Amino acid sequence: MYSVFRRWLFQLAPEQAHAAGFAAAQVAQIFARRDVQERFSYASPVLSQRLAGIYFPNPVGLAAGFDKDARLLPFWELMGLGYVEAGSVTAHRSRGNARPRAFRLPLDSAIINRMGLPNQGARRVARRIARVHKQCRIPLGISLANSHAPHAEVVAAADDYRRSFMRLAPLADYVTLNISCPNTAHGKTFEHPPSLNVLLEVIFRQRAAQQLDIPVFLKLSPPASARIVFDSQIEEILSIGQFYGVHGYIACNTASDRVGLQTGAAALAEIGAGGLSGPPLRARSVHLVRYLYRRLQSGQVILGVGGIDSALAAYEMIRAGASLVQLYTGLVYKGPEVVRAINEGLVALCARDGLGSIADAVGTDAAQ
Ligand SMILES: Cc1cc2nc3c(=O)[nH]c(=O)nc-3n(C[C@H](O)[C@H](O)[C@H](O)COP(=O)(O)O)c2cc1C
Repeated sequence: MYSVFRRWLFQLAPEQAHAAGFAAAQVAQIFARRDVQERFSYASPVLSQRLAGIYFPNPVGLAAGFDKDARLLPFWELMGLGYVEAGSVTAHRSRGNARPRAFRLPLDSAIINRMGLPNQGARRVARRIARVHKQCRIPLGISLANSHAPHAEVVAAADDYRRSFMRLAPLADYVTLNISCPNTAHGKTFEHPPSLNVLLEVIFRQRAAQQLDIPVFLKLSPPASARIVFDSQIEEILSIGQFYGVHGYIACNTASDRVGLQTGAAALAEIGAGGLSGPPLRARSVHLVRYLYRRLQSGQVILGVGGIDSALAAYEMIRAGASLVQLYTGLVYKGPEVVRAINEGLVALCARDGLGSIADAVGTDAAQ
């Protein structure tokens, strides 16, 4: 079914296709709730987990960037997702970069984007979530980033996150700090350890001031390759995270390089700069997840994202150490059916391996 729809969608520019898909989902969310739910949702006790105090009905979530302004929260549950990460939201509304800013790479089933975090800003998104979040029974994560301000110093940029946190954290089940997006002075990300220290100090102080018990996750950049030996920067990030009590890590964001693609050099040159997502990212995400699993304390949650588009890909990520997975590009190429296919496949893979719960699979290949 999606393959027919996709043929039409792929005639449109990626952002137009995204808008068309959203419009269809908005209609379905109102007029065809039961049909959508019957077709897409799937439940099994094998898939549910309680992590960081949150109940997840299944481990497959929507990655940040797909529903930046939280427009479709009730729809994602109907579609069978186990949780949603809205955002990234910034304190100020942003139009993002000039178009075109998203490109499909069909030969690689991948995407390159340089969206530049277009979003309606924390105040407006908070108002929308406040209206609908009671109708949404799956966990809601909200990803925060800092407003684009090329000359902002670290302290001002951290305060930008704080203002978004103040408005949005009371409405969410968890908050992700998108520290891997180069929307900061001179293109540096908040993964730079001294900057991360400032950011976490500000956020955890705000969290205490609001007496919120909400888990805070950090989203990381991908490693340069799937074989890299991790350096002291990631060690420092984890130590700083440990000091402030960060509850989990998301691995990973898009890659700025173009390693391992089938798409030709001329086509890539025409596209230009941007973050690469989809299957070419998967091995690197798995590599980082494995490292995190070996390095982190039990109780800290790992969310694996990058090229998840099948049950086998999700299972590999989970066995590497991720308790939860997320997807973006897989949805674009495979459509909404992919969520149910992943969940059904995970149950079958657990049965094949004699596991009573998906939680029993987490980290079983982390030593590799
Ligand atoms: C068009 C587009 C926009 C994105 N926007 C965001 C964003 O706002 N915040 C964020 O943390 N990640 C963003 N991402 C990254 C995804 O959340 C995810 O980390 C990445 O795409 C790898 O997963 P995938 O291979 O399943 O797409 C975006 C990805 C794409 C393709």
